[in-house]
Amino acid sequence: MNPLELADTARRMLANGKGLLAMDESSPTCNERFAALGITPSEASRRAWRELLITAPGLAESIGGAILYDETIHQRCADGTPFVKALTNAGILVGIKVDTGAKALAGHAGEKVTEGLDGLRERLQGYAAIGARFAKWRAVIPMGAGLPSAACVVANAHALARYAALCQEAGLVPVVEPEVLMTGDHSLQRCADVSAQLLHEVFEQLHVQGVLLEGMVLKPNMLLPGLNCSHQHSVDEVADATVTALLRAVPAAVAGIAFLSGGQSAELASARLSAMNRRFKSRLPWALTFSFARAIQQPALEIWRGDPGKVAQAQRALLHRATCNQAARQGDYSPAMENQASPIIGT
Ligand code: G3H
Repeated sequence: MNPLELADTARRMLANGKGLLAMDESSPTCNERFAALGITPSEASRRAWRELLITAPGLAESIGGAILYDETIHQRCADGTPFVKALTNAGILVGIKVDTGAKALAGHAGEKVTEGLDGLRERLQGYAAIGARFAKWRAVIPMGAGLPSAACVVANAHALARYAALCQEAGLVPVVEPEVLMTGDHSLQRCADVSAQLLHEVFEQLHVQGVLLEGMVLKPNMLLPGLNCSHQHSVDEVADATVTALLRAVPAAVAGIAFLSGGQSAELASARLSAMNRRFKSRLPWALTFSFARAIQQPALEIWRGDPGKVAQAQRALLHRATCNQAARQGDYSPAMENQASPIIGT
């Protein structure tokens, strides 16, 4: 591990007001999203979609790193250029999802632990050799009566820390993603309590494993009431709850925080990120930015729908979301940006 290089990579991923593009859906998840829009699920359609994303003109102005899936990191553009080379040439750092998915946690119905530690050292070395500079591992924490259990929180935090240490050994910056799910009818306060418990456990385990905080990025959920909760809070209330919890739990040495979107609409995710940066600007010790998948890809996917004639229009929609989120990182996003963009996107 070279601490200076790791810290430098982590800074570069989020430099100049940029965020991360998460495009690391597993093939089954990508196929599900395609099927919902009538797009033929196949290796060829997944490749075409991912090429559309990474070749969007001007993407590097707002995106510092792209998180790929194993299939994607080995694919090429139609002209034969490897995806890794296309991204690197554009100035976008290459990341790779390295967990192998969340599996049922023994003895704990309804809960999961993320797997993928077996053989991870060798896989990380392989990804680094082909140009990856960072990696990602997602833990999922469900909400519900009696959930999550301490067993679920501790097992997932431990796995995240083991993964992060292995990444740094291989010279890759770990993106550490502990996600409290939005599914359920829990209150904002309950999400805050569970998120705090989870973050404290994650940083305890990272400390035990000797993970260099300057050489990692945290990818948490925003603090939100459950999707079925009868009281949905304002943008500012969500921003205040989220940043307050993060300030209490995340050491200042961490290179940056890049949120997942978790199923929020694209506009709400931008508005909430913007409110956090606007309201806490001078009090944030870390970069507070985005690492969205659905909230940055979905509008473009709905335009593309597998039609080669819609590539340019879909790329403009992607760029629009990336630009909105870059503005949100400065606290400068406003819903008016959506209206300004529609004439361009609609052409
Ligand atoms: O693992 C999930 C992705 O990294 C983030 O996806 O923004 O759709 O929640 P999302």
